[in-house]
Amino acid sequence: MTANARSWWQDAVIYQIYPRSFADSDDDGIGDLGGVRSRLGYLKALGIDAVWLCPVMRSPMIDHGYDVSDPRDIDPLFGDLAGMDAVLEEAHDHGLRVLMDLVPNHTSNQHPWFEEALRSGPGSPARARYLFRPGKGEGGAEPPNNWASIFGGPAWTRITEPDGSLGEWYLHLFAPEQPDLDWTNPEVFTDLAETMRFWLDRGVDGFRIDVAHGMAKPEGLPDGDPTTMTPLYNGDGDARFDHDDVHDLHRRLRDVIDEYEDRVLIGEIWVRDPRRFARYVSEGELHLGFNFLLLETNYRPTEFRTAIDKSLTAVQGTPAPPTWTLSNHDVAREVTRYSPGDPERGTLRAAAALLLELALPGVVFLYNGAELGLPNVDDLPDDVLQDPVWERSGHTDRGRDGARIPLPWWGTEPPYGFSGSPDTWLPMPADWTGLSVQAQSADPGSFLTRCRHAIRMRHELLRDAGTDVEWLDGSGPVLRFQRGKVQCVMNMGTEPVAVPEGRIMAASGPLEDGSLPPDTTVWVV
Ligand code: NOJ
Repeated sequence: MTANARSWWQDAVIYQIYPRSFADSDDDGIGDLGGVRSRLGYLKALGIDAVWLCPVMRSPMIDHGYDVSDPRDIDPLFGDLAGMDAVLEEAHDHGLRVLMDLVPNHTSNQHPWFEEALRSGPGSPARARYLFRPGKGEGGAEPPNNWASIFGGPAWTRITEPDGSLGEWYLHLFAPEQPDLDWTNPEVFTDLAETMRFWLDRGVDGFRIDVAHGMAKPEGLPDGDPTTMTPLYNGDGDARFDHDDVHDLHRRLRDVIDEYEDRVLIGEIWVRDPRRFARYVSEGELHLGFNFLLLETNYRPTEFRTAIDKSLTAVQGTPAPPTWTLSNHDVAREVTRYSPGDPERGTLRAAAALLLELALPGVVFLYNGAELGLPNVDDLPDDVLQDPVWERSGHTDRGRDGARIPLPWWGTEPPYGFSGSPDTWLPMPADWTGLSVQAQSADPGSFLTRCRHAIRMRHELLRDAGTDVEWLDGSGPVLRFQRGKVQCVMNMGTEPVAVPEGRIMAASGPLEDGSLPPDTTVWVV
C-alpha cells in the first residue's frame, strides 16, 4: 500500500468485539464465534466498517485469550476453524472486514515451546525462545532485575529445573502464565510470520498487535525506575516498553502483510510522546497505531482539546491517519469514568464525547457496548472476579471485569438474550432492561439510535472532508471545530449555549429551544 492511496481503513469505524461478552450461541454462558455470526446483521445496521475480534485462538484463558497456546487454531470455547471461516465469509458478504488479535509479545505457559523450554536445560535452544536468566544474589534467589509485572507482583518467576533443583527465572511482563518471547531469536519471527499467513490466507483483513510497543527488550535487561511500575499502566520512559529495536521488528511484520492486498496492521502502542508515537506509523512500519490520549483524558475541555491536537500532530508527516478510542476491554467504561456515581450524567457525557469523536478525521474504534452507553459494573462480588489482576495485585486492584460484562440484547432480566443460560461468565446487572439493544432500537432518542445515526452521518457528510480540524473558538467550556462542511460543537460547560445557525444533522442528546444543553454535542451544516 503506498502512502497516498486511499485505503478502506483510512476513515473506518472499527467495532471491537470482546468475544466472551458479545453473544453466546451454545448456552455455556460464554460468548463465541456462533454468537458473532448471529449478530452480523446488527453490526451491519450499526454502520461500522470492520470488526476487531479480541483473541479467539487456543488458550488456557488465564488472561481470556491473551495467553495463546496454539496461535493457528480456534479455542473450542469459541468454536473451531470452520466457524471462523464462516464468520469471515458472512462478514464479507455483509461488506464488513474482520481483524484478528495477534499476541506476539508472549505465549501461554502451555504453549509447546514453553513446555519444551521447561524440560530442556539452561542454555538450550528451547530456552532461547524466551527470556530465561539466572537469578541474582546468593544461590540466584533474587530476580534478574527489578521489573514489575503489569498485572502486579514481580515480572519474573523462578522455575524448578528438570533435575528438581531451583533454577533460572523467566520474564513475564504480564501473568506468570504469559512468558515473554525473545524477539532477538529469528525463530520467533518465522513462527509469527507463519501465523500471519495462516490467517491472511483464510481471508482475515488485518491484525491488531497486542503490546506492539513491548516486543523488543533493552539489551542486558537493566533495572527500571521503580516509581514508574504501577499495575495496569506503563508511562513513557518505562524501561520495559518502547525500546528502539521494536521498529525493525515492525518493519518485518509489515513486509509480511504487504504480500497481501488491502490488509492492515494496527499496533497497541501505549506511548504518549508524539514524536516517539510517530515512529510506529512511519513509512514501512504499522499502518495504524492505537492512540490512547483521548481515552486517558478527563472530561475537561482543555484536556480534550489538547489530546485532540496532540493526536493530530503525532501523525502529521506520517502516512497514517489519526485514530481515536474512548474505551476498550482494559479500562473502565466512559459512562462511569466521565461521572463516577452519576450514570445519567455519565451517559450524556459519553454520548457527547462519541459524537465529537465521530466528527474527527481518521479511524474510530468503538468498544462493544459503548454504542449502548453501558456503564462499568463496579459492584461485582469479589468471588466472581476473574481478571488475573485481582489476585496478582493482592486484592488491591479489582481489575478489568467491570468493563467486560456480557451485552444485553433483549428481554427484561439477565441474561437479556446474551445466552440461553442464566449462568453467564460474569453476572449481568438486574437493571439493564432499558439498555438492551431491543429496548434502545425502539426508542428514537436512545443512545444506540443516536449512535447509529451519527455513524451514518459520518459516512455521508465527512467521507471526503480531509484531515483538517479547524478550531473555531479560542477557549472556554465549548469545543467547536469545523471539518469539511460539518461544524461540531460540544458543550462541556454547565450552561446552555446557542446552537449555530444551519441544519442540525446529528445531536448526542435532546436540544432545548435552539440551545445546546450542557454535556451535549451537535453537528450543524
Ligand atoms: C493488552 C491487552 O489488551 C490486555 O487485555 C492483555 O491483558 C495484555 N495486553 C496482555 O496480553
